[in-house]
Amino acid sequence: MNITVSTAKNINKTLAVPGDKSISHRAVMFGALAKGTTEIKGFLMGEDCLSTIDCFRKLGIEIEVEDECVRVCGKGLRGLKAPSEALYVGNSGTTIRLITGILAAQNFDTRISGDESICKRPMNRVIAPLSKMGANIESTNNGYAPLNIKGSQLKAIDYTLPVASAQVKSSVILAGLFAQGQTIVREPAPSRDHTEIMLNYFGANIKNEKGVIVSAPVEELYAKPIDVPGDISSAAFFMVAGLIVPGSEIVIKNVGINKTRTGIIDALKQMGGDISVENERNTTGEPIGDIRVRYSELKAITLEGDIIPRMIDEIPVFVVAALCAEGTTVIRDATELKVKESNRIVTMIEELGKMGAELSETEDGMIISGKQKLKGNTVYSHLDHRVAMSCAVAALIAEGTTTITEAECVNISFPDFFEVLNKAVND
Ligand code: S3P
Repeated sequence: MNITVSTAKNINKTLAVPGDKSISHRAVMFGALAKGTTEIKGFLMGEDCLSTIDCFRKLGIEIEVEDECVRVCGKGLRGLKAPSEALYVGNSGTTIRLITGILAAQNFDTRISGDESICKRPMNRVIAPLSKMGANIESTNNGYAPLNIKGSQLKAIDYTLPVASAQVKSSVILAGLFAQGQTIVREPAPSRDHTEIMLNYFGANIKNEKGVIVSAPVEELYAKPIDVPGDISSAAFFMVAGLIVPGSEIVIKNVGINKTRTGIIDALKQMGGDISVENERNTTGEPIGDIRVRYSELKAITLEGDIIPRMIDEIPVFVVAALCAEGTTVIRDATELKVKESNRIVTMIEELGKMGAELSETEDGMIISGKQKLKGNTVYSHLDHRVAMSCAVAALIAEGTTTITEAECVNISFPDFFEVLNKAVND
C-alpha cells in the first residue's frame, strides 16, 4: 500500500492514540498465566499483539476478542498445554523474547518462529541468561529464530543485563516465576517496567531497588481487570508533528506516562518544546495523562546515556524534530537502534535523505544538522512501522507531496494512523 502525505497548514485537534503495545502484550501473557479471567480494555488491535493472542490460543488458552475488549481465560501458572503446531510471532520481538522465557520452563517442547525481520533479530540475548537457568533452547539459525525449546525445570539466577532491555529483563523474570528461589536482574539503566508493575498487580512479589530487580517465588498469579493506556510511542508522532508544523496545538488524551517511557517528553522539552502533561491519574498501576503540545522553535541537544532506553522506540521521530531544530543534534549510546524492526540508524538516514535531509551515521548513533528544508519524494518503510510513521511526520513539513511505499506496516502498532493523521491535519 502506498500512502501520500502532503504539506500541512497546521494541526489543531484533540485526539486519542491506540492502546500501549507493551502493556497489551503483557496483559494477554500474564492473563494466560493467572487464575481467572482477565478483562482487558483499550487493547491494541495491532498485528504484534494479535500474534501474542494467537500464540497463547495455541497454548490452550481461551481468548475472546470483541472490539477493543479482550477476555483471557487464564489457567494459572502451570496451565499451558503443548501446542499442536509451531508458534508464529510474525514481526513481534516482544512476543518472541517474553514467551521464550515462559516456554523454557514448561513440561512440553515448542518450536517458535516469525517473519523475515524476526529471524534476523538477536535471540542470544535471551538464550544466554535462560540457559544459565537450565533452559534448553536451540537456535536453528545461528542465534536467531526459529527456536526449538525443550521444556526444563529451571533454577533462579542473579543476572546482570549487558544492555538495558525490557524484553530480556522480562524474559528472565517470567522464567523465574517457574524456578526455585529468588530471581535477580540487574539493569545498566532503567528500561520499561510494565512487567514488574503488572505481575505485582496480579499478585507477584517483585521489588526494584536502584536497578536491582528481585522477584521472589509465588504460587499463583490472580486475574484482575486491565485498562490499557494510550501508547506514548504512538503519541510521539503527534507530539513531534504539533511541535514542528507552524500554528499547531494538539491534545492527546489518556496517554501512558510511566517514567520509564517519558524520555521523549523530556528530550523534546529540553529542545524548547512547549509540552505539558495535564489531568494526571492512575489506571491499573500505570500513570496516565493528557499531553498538550504547541508549535515551538526547537534547539538542538545531545541525546545520550540513560534517556536512550526511556525513548528507544521514539528516536526515529525524534530525528525528524532534530531536523527542524536550530543547531546540530548528536545521538549517542543508541546502538540498540540497529537491532529493531530495521536498522533504524541506516533506514532513517536513507529515507530522510531521499527527502533532501543530510544526516550522518556514527558508530552508536547519528549527527543531524538542524533547520533543514525537506522536499517531498517517494520513500520506503523498510516494513518498519516506526520508520513509515516518522516519514509521514517529516512529510507534513516537506515541500510538495511524499509517497510512503509499503506503508501498511503501520498495522503493527497503529492500524488507523493515517486516518487519525488525515482527520487532524488542516491542509
Ligand atoms: C519492548 C521493549 C523495547 C522496545 C520494544 C518493546 C517491550 O525493546 O524497543 O518495542 O515491550 O518490552 P528492548 O527490550 O529490546 O529494549
